[in-house]
Amino acid sequence: MWHPAAIAVVAATATMMRDEWRAAGMSQGIIREGRYTRQARAFGVCSRCLPISWMGEARLPSASVPAMAVNMTWEDAWREGRTRWDAGSSPPVLRRLVDDGSLPAGRAIVPGCGTGYDLLTLSRVVERVVGIDLAPTAKRAFDARVEERGLDPSRTQYLVEDFFAFEPEAPFDLFWDYTFLCAIEPERRTDWARRVDELLAEGGELITLIFPVVDQPINPGGPPHPMSPDLVCSLLEPRWEATHLEPVEVSHPGREGKEWLGRWRRRAQG
Ligand SMILES: C[S@@+](CC[C@H](N)C(=O)[O-])C[C@H]1O[C@@H](n2cnc3c(N)ncnc32)[C@H](O)[C@@H]1O
Repeated sequence: MWHPAAIAVVAATATMMRDEWRAAGMSQGIIREGRYTRQARAFGVCSRCLPISWMGEARLPSASVPAMAVNMTWEDAWREGRTRWDAGSSPPVLRRLVDDGSLPAGRAIVPGCGTGYDLLTLSRVVERVVGIDLAPTAKRAFDARVEERGLDPSRTQYLVEDFFAFEPEAPFDLFWDYTFLCAIEPERRTDWARRVDELLAEGGELITLIFPVVDQPINPGGPPHPMSPDLVCSLLEPRWEATHLEPVEVSHPGREGKEWLGRWRRRAQG
């Protein structure tokens, strides 16, 4: 039996967390080893139990998007439309980079590409862009958009597989990360940095739109896990150096002031 005082503390904590989630306009759920669980959701956070909550209200009116359900994988979340991270378009800064012609033109890779807005945006300027996501439903949404808009799919390839196990035909010239690094479990970040090294060609460029850059976690335990420019530097150094690292001026609604653009080049071996 639980002591009444313990029950009161748990209830107060749960109420406080719920109110924080609501105040931030975020969905709720819990991920444990890739699956969300009701138990973890009820009792908050531990190192193996990651409360899922997303993010700003980027695609309005996302309040109408239901919260994540229990026992849910990424694919479950996509299938049920519980995808508040989905902003409905590429971030403004990516569109600006495309328009100002400052991106490498060769092969690009986009991990955790979701419904693939960034694949289509990048396909305007790169020769080929490969998106990778675990969720078949996200790919179907991408395929439907391509067909509906009569877009030429020849420059895009969407693979449903685990980014960490992906074996490319050839190295890439551009690695674009937006809302993937913050979505993976923190223990996998060094694997992410290793993959950057493995997948980018000599002379290739990593471009990260670092989000959410916040002092306090949006949601204790994440995701989205709090990010910072220093954190990304520490993952990439000493092999990579930042050629640009600054806050962005324009973001999706709800994400203003929480995004930094980083551009990275492999450091010359000395
Ligand atoms: C937060 S969502 C971001 C989606 C997209 N970048 C966007 O901004 O809309 C993270 C995505 O990463 C995918 N994902 C998570 N782990 C993955 C992995 N190991 N390999 C490939 N995709 C993964 C999820 O299915 C999900 O679509």
